[in-house]
Amino acid sequence: DLPADLAGRHILITAGGTREPIDPVRFIGNRSSGRQGYALAATALARGARVTLVSANVFLSAPAGAEVVSVGSAREMREAVLARRGTADAVVMAAAVADFRPAETAAGKIKKTGDGPAPVELAENPDILLELATERTRPDQVVVGFAAETDDVLANGRAKLKRKGCDLLVVNQVGEGRAFGTEDNQAVVLGADGSATEIPNGPKEDLADRVWDLVARQTAFGGTP
Ligand code: C5P
Repeated sequence: DLPADLAGRHILITAGGTREPIDPVRFIGNRSSGRQGYALAATALARGARVTLVSANVFLSAPAGAEVVSVGSAREMREAVLARRGTADAVVMAAAVADFRPAETAAGKIKKTGDGPAPVELAENPDILLELATERTRPDQVVVGFAAETDDVLANGRAKLKRKGCDLLVVNQVGEGRAFGTEDNQAVVLGADGSATEIPNGPKEDLADRVWDLVARQTAFGGTP
């Protein structure tokens, strides 16, 4: 039986991967499928939450009942998230957000000139998770980040949790075909309280349910951690 422990809660989830335009037809992107974020949305709905899904370049059908806001780039995602965070009891940043974008987007399609390729200058994107967690508008909002690490998963995860200021960080080990674009996922969830919860490899829905277990255990959700 599914607990209705998220009933009456508003949950904001980001999913997918941002695309940073180079010109009208090209972009810098990543391999995120959006499956983990969509699984989080589906499971939160099943547990009674109202869900807003800020979705970047995902080619999946949205879970019934979710409010979907489609965005393209990291800056669009930031606008969409900040505009909707006010009512959210929890914000889960499952999207792969590009750290950098082309400093300028060419107005027309960039053409070969015969002089070789022109360099693409990059600019840093805003860190949405960092902003959500360190410039909070509601102290009782639970902020959850995701992190993909290839090595020193625990040490890098701890450092990232601290730097970003989030309450929970779901750390995936990536590389060797793990996580991105696959059906299954495995992770360790680090808590700001020093906790570490291992989630064994399994369907992304199972991982999502374990994440909601941990969110529901936060004091802001009436839990006693
Ligand atoms: O720093 P890193 O990209 O590894 O952190 C991953 C986490 O931070 C994810 O939750 C992602 O959604 C979020 N993030 C963000 N804005 C960025 C980069 C990452 O919100 N510009």
